[in-house]
Amino acid sequence: MEKISVKVCLGTTCFVMGGANLQELVDIIPRKYGDKVEVAGSPCLGMCSIQWNYSKAPYVKIDDDIIEEATVEKVLEAIDTKLGSK
Ligand code: FES
Repeated sequence: MEKISVKVCLGTTCFVMGGANLQELVDIIPRKYGDKVEVAGSPCLGMCSIQWNYSKAPYVKIDDDIIEEATVEKVLEAIDTKLGSK
């Protein structure tokens, strides 16, 4: 099974919009999913500049899917859904 890749945006916009909390994911994900999921911080994913006027930051990317207004719960839920469907 391929690993799921999770990229937590650590760019300024996402960081100030709540992304700071998302750094917990870097600890939680390996503990919860072991080597099934790879998690890393990422520089600006480019989403904030596309949607600057109705920003849905913070963003997290899971494989090719973007999670808007990401929270720890939303991200874990999305990972669970993906693991269930693979
Ligand atoms: S700072 Fe997160 S998408 Fe730009």
